[in-house]
Amino acid sequence: MATISPIRINNPFTSIRWKILLAFLLIVGVSYYAVAASLIALVGDYLFSDRMRQDRINTDRMTVEVEQLLLSAQIPALQAHLEDASRELGGRLMVLDSSGKVQADSYSELNGSRMELPEVASILLDGKTADYGVHKLAPTASQQAPFLSFLQPYDPNVQWVGYCTSALTKSGQIIGVLLFSSPLQDMMQRLFTLQDQMIFYFLIAAAASIVIALIFSSVITRPIASLTRSIQRMGRGDLSVRVPVKGSGELRRLATTFNAMSEKLELLDKSRNQFVSNASHELKTPLATMKILLESIIYQPDMDNDLRTEFLTDVNKEIDRLNLIISDLLTLVSMDAKTMRLNRETFSLAQVITENAHRLAPVAEQRNQEIKLQISDNCEMYADRAKLTQVVYNLMDNAIKYTQEGGTIRLRLIRSGRDAILSVADNGPGIPKADQAHIFDRFYRVDKARGRDTGGTGLGLSIVHQMVLMHGGSVTVDSEEGHGTVFTVELPIHQG
Ligand SMILES: Nc1ncnc2c1ncn2[C@@H]1O[C@H](COP(=O)(O)OP(=O)(O)OP(=O)(O)O)[C@@H](O)[C@H]1O
Ligand SMILES: [Mg+2]
Repeated sequence: MATISPIRINNPFTSIRWKILLAFLLIVGVSYYAVAASLIALVGDYLFSDRMRQDRINTDRMTVEVEQLLLSAQIPALQAHLEDASRELGGRLMVLDSSGKVQADSYSELNGSRMELPEVASILLDGKTADYGVHKLAPTASQQAPFLSFLQPYDPNVQWVGYCTSALTKSGQIIGVLLFSSPLQDMMQRLFTLQDQMIFYFLIAAAASIVIALIFSSVITRPIASLTRSIQRMGRGDLSVRVPVKGSGELRRLATTFNAMSEKLELLDKSRNQFVSNASHELKTPLATMKILLESIIYQPDMDNDLRTEFLTDVNKEIDRLNLIISDLLTLVSMDAKTMRLNRETFSLAQVITENAHRLAPVAEQRNQEIKLQISDNCEMYADRAKLTQVVYNLMDNAIKYTQEGGTIRLRLIRSGRDAILSVADNGPGIPKADQAHIFDRFYRVDKARGRDTGGTGLGLSIVHQMVLMHGGSVTVDSEEGHGTVFTVELPIHQG
C-alpha cells in the first residue's frame, strides 16, 4: 500500500496558529491605537478649549484699559498695570505696538524687542482680532505645537505655553497687540500621564489578546491536527481510524465527512479482502476435487475403464465449473473497473425472454417444472442485448434451480410508461427475510450446502444487479419462506 509521507510545516509563521495570533494582535493594536489617540485628542481638546476660553476672557477684559494707556503712551503705567495683572493671572503679559515691538513686558525682559509669533502676525498682518496658539519651548527653539500627538515621549525640559493675543484698536484701526502667555505645563503633564496609562493598558490588552489568540487558535487547530494525524495513520494502512466529532460548523462537518469517508474505505477494503478470499475458496474447491480424481487415476493404473471415464468426465465438469466462475469473476471485475461498456442495439425484450425460456425448457422439463410466459408488450429496447439476456438467464436459472420438482416458474413482462417491468416468480422454498438483504452480495448463498450441491457460487445475482444498474434500472426481491420468490426488474426502455 502506498504510504503518505507526514506533512511538515517548515515555516512556523505560515501555520494557522501564527496567522490567528498576528491577526488578533493587529486588530487589537490598530483599534487600540485609534481609540487611545482619539481619547487623548478629545481630552486634550477639552482641556485646551477650557484654557483658551479662560485666557481669552482675561485678555479681552484687559484690552480697553491697555488700549487707553498705549494710546496715551503712558508706558510706565502700562508696565505697572501688566505686572499687576500678570501676578493676578499667573502668566506673562506683553503689549506690542503696530510694528510688533514690545512696549511693555510684565517680566521686563523683552521691552523694545520684536516678537515674531504667528499669533501676533495674524493680528498685525492678517487683520484678525484675536488668536490663540500652543507652543512648546524646547531648550533649542520655540515651536508651534497645536496638538499633542500620541506616542510622543514626555520631555520634562520642554516648556509648554499658550499664546493668547488680542488686537488693540482705536476706531477700528489696529494700534497694537496684547499678548498673554500662560504656562500649559500641568495640563500637558496630565495628557502625558494619560498617554502613559494608555500604553500600559495597551500592553495588558496585548498580553490578554495573545493569551486569547493562543487559546482560540489551539481550539481551531487541535481538530485539524488530530485530522492530520488520522490521515497519516490511514496512510500507513490503518483504516479503522475515526476522528472525534466535536464543536459545530465547518470543523464538525470536516470530521463527519472524514469519518464517513474512512468508514467507506474500510468497508471497501473489507469487501475487497472478502471478495479475494471467497474467490480463492471457490476456485480451490474444484481444483481439490480435480486433484483427488486425477490422483486416483494416476495411482490406480489398473483402474476400470468405465470408472476412469467417469472420473475424467467429473474432471471435465470441474473444469467447466472453474471456467464459469472465472468468467463470472471477470465480468464483475470489469464492471467494477468500469471498463465494461454497454453495446446498445434495438431489440425486443419479449423475444429475449422467449429465447431464454426455450433455452432452459429442457432443464425445467427434467425437473417436471412448468414455465409460464405472460407477455403483454413487446418492449422494444435500446439496450445491451447480451447483458439483458444474461440477466434473464440468471434469474430463470435460479428459479428453476431452487424450486422443487414439479414447481411453476412464471415470467411476466409489462410496459409501464418508459419502463419495461419483468418479473420472474416461482413457487419454490422462498428466501428468508434476513438473507434477502444479502443475496445480491458476491458469493452469498442462502443455504451454503444446498448451493454447492446445485453448483451455485453466489455470483449470479450480483451480476444481475450490476448489469441492471448499468442500464439505469433496478432489481428487487419479494419472497416469503415456503411461498416462493418474485424478482422484479425495472428497465428504462430508451436511454441515450
Ligand atoms: N428463486 C430463488 N429461490 C430461492 N432462493 C434463491 C432464488 N434465487 C436465488 N436464491 C438464493 O440466493 C442465492 C444467491 O443467488 P445467486 O444466483 O447469486 O447465486 P447462486 O445461484 O448460488 O450461484 P450462481 O448463480 O453464481 O451460479 C442462492 O444461492 C440462493 O440461495
Ligand atoms: Mg444463480
